[in-house]
Formats: sequence, C-alpha cells, structure tokens
Amino acid sequence: MIESNTLLLDAARGRETSRTPIWLMRQAGRILPEYRRVRESAGDFKTMVKTPELAAEVTIQPVDILKVDAAIIFSDILVIPEAMGCNYLMQENKGPVFPNRIESVADLSSLHVASTDELDYVYQAIKLTKKGLNGRVPLIGFAGAPWTLFSYMTEGKGSKTFSEAKKMLYLQPEFSHRLLEMITDSTINYLRGQINAGADIIQIFDSWAGVLSPEQYSAFSLKYIRKICDAIQDVPKIVFPKGAFFARAELNKLDCQVVGLDWNMGVAESRSLMPTKVLQGNTDPCALYGSLADVKSEARKLVDAFGTGKHIANLGHGLYPDTEVDKVRCFIDTVKEYSASRKAIMA
Ligand code: CP3
Repeated sequence: MIESNTLLLDAARGRETSRTPIWLMRQAGRILPEYRRVRESAGDFKTMVKTPELAAEVTIQPVDILKVDAAIIFSDILVIPEAMGCNYLMQENKGPVFPNRIESVADLSSLHVASTDELDYVYQAIKLTKKGLNGRVPLIGFAGAPWTLFSYMTEGKGSKTFSEAKKMLYLQPEFSHRLLEMITDSTINYLRGQINAGADIIQIFDSWAGVLSPEQYSAFSLKYIRKICDAIQDVPKIVFPKGAFFARAELNKLDCQVVGLDWNMGVAESRSLMPTKVLQGNTDPCALYGSLADVKSEARKLVDAFGTGKHIANLGHGLYPDTEVDKVRCFIDTVKEYSASRKAIMA
C-alpha cells in the first residue's frame, strides 16, 4: 500500500500540516536529464504535450527524482489559444510564436470558445498520470490567466513589454473585452475538463500581470480571473499573479484559497494585505545558483519568513533550465527537514 501524501491539499485548505509542502514551478522540464531524453526522442515540445503517455511520464519524473509533494500536469498555457483556433509554434531557444496573431474584431470570427471535449489529449494525460501516481501525491491542473493568454495571442510572440497587447487595451477596449471573454469561457470549460479527468487542485498562471497598471489590471485581468474562480468550485484554486504586488488587497477578495507570490513581494506585507489566503512561493529561482550551503540557507530563510502554517513552498517563478539538479534537491530537502523540525519544536 502506497502512502498518500495530502500535505499540499491540506495546506491549501488551511489545515495544519506536519511540515510545509513543496513543489516547484517548471519542475517538469529541462533541468532534468530524464526530461531531456524524452524530449529528444519525441523530437519537439508540442509532440510531447500532445502524446498522453509522454506527458504523463515527464509529469511523474519530478515526483520520483525530486520527491516533491505534488505533480503538475505537463502541458502549456498555450493549448487554449490553439484550441480556440489560434495555432502556436514553439521555436527552439526563442519560445512561442503565433503565425496569425489576433489584431481586431474581424479576427475574432476565426476563433471559437473551446468546449470541454476539445483538448482531450490533456485529459488523457491527466488520467494516465493519476494512474501512475497511484495516490502518492496530488496532481495540479493549470491554465493561463485570460490576460496572459490575450497578451500572447495579440502580440503574436513573447515580449519584454507586451506593448502591442497593451496597445489593444488602450485603442480597442471593446475588442479586448470580447476576446478576454472568449478566453475566459474556454478556460472554464478546460479547467472543468481537467477536474473531471482527475486534477486535484488547479493553478492559474498570470505571468504578465506585472506589465499592467493597477487600474488596467483590475479591469482587464482580475475581472476575468474572478469569473473563473467563481465558476470553479470543486477543487482548491491557486492564483499566481506575477508582478501584481499592487493588487494584493484585491486578490485577497478572490474566491481562491491560495495566492502565489513572486520574489518581489515581501512576506510580512503580503500576509497583512491577504490575511485570508494561504501563500505560495517565493524564493528567487536565481538563489539556486549559489553553493549548496547558500541554497540551504535560502530554504531556511523561506521557512522562517513564512512560518510553519498557511504556506506552500515554491519559487517566485519557474526553475531556470540551467539550474543544477543537486541544488534543487537540496532546496526541497531543506524545506522539508527544517519546516518539520520547527513544527516539532512548536508542538
Ligand atoms: O513543470 C511545470 O511547471 C509544468 C509544465 C509547464 C510548462 N509551461 C512546460 C513548458 C507549465 C505550467 C507551463 C506554463 C507556461 N507556459 C507559462 C506560465 C508560467 C510562466 O513561466 O510564467 C507560460 C508563460 C508559458 C508559455 C511558454 N511555454 C513559454 C514562454 C515558453 C518558452 C520559454 C521556455 O522556457 O523555453 C514555453 C515552453 C515550455 N513550456 C517549456 C516547458 C518545459 C520548455 C520547452 C522545451 O522543453 O524546450
């Protein structure tokens, strides 16, 4: 009988846990040689995403190799634009490109709201992963926040500023709301599909929250995240609004249990602005470039800063691909051991 680890779900629901649970954004990825081998044999990223056996295999790798407290389904936020009719290419070392970016109301006729039956390959990957995990740890499903998906669809590629996407908000607000609405409805269907397939908890990634002003963030991003949070009631929800330090008081009012912090957000200030939330994060992924002793000290600092309750340990953004596996393992092990010993002392 395999012991089932429910630390993440317990912590997300605000229950006491014997130690701080930990998982890492981008834990399934290029840091692992085992991932790179699967990626090489598949040929390209999208083939991996669309082949349920491969997606399930790399989803489970970090659970076996790094001993994290949760798996996150291997996929990408960009599967939603693709299901809506806006195809993307993942270019080696360059990132995503959309050959036909969405620029005006006329382009909306080429898109549709994705239904729950589309993206069946993700649901199959979730079912296979659940079988492979056999209850060992919970499985996190995810989607991009509507604003972040809008920014890729309208910009047509990654960007430091997303000035093309932001231009739409200023010059074509009505078009922007119509597209955001279509993405939101697609995302609700998609998350329901993931939950039906077995996802135990979901995370919404708003990776480009930080390029908006507070007023725009409220009108063009939070409004749609709120709609998603209100629609999804069956599992706990994590919202990760990268860079939106200015919106923390408003985020506290969302119907979600957990808010993910990036490393720019101070812990004490975040606790006071979001007293009702469990917080996730937030070590700078660059801190894992230090020596093993440095990494250990960063992990302890993290546990000391958040305390031993209402916290899910993570980084402030995804792991960088050139991080050494030993450092990642050291970070994870230290958080586990140190939070358990602090908890034991307090008991
Ligand atoms: O381990 C996990 O976190 C699960 C898998 C996952 C991937 N993408 C796999 C991936 C998750 C949760 C995502 C989400 C995602 N995708 C986000 C939100 C999180 C964030 O990083 O802010 C965003 C913005 C994307 C879009 C995306 N996908 C970009 C910009 C890139 C290129 C940059 C890069 O890292 O290469 C991707 C590609 C991608 N998605 C990779 C992985 C493992 C690398 C592809 C490869 O193997 O070459």
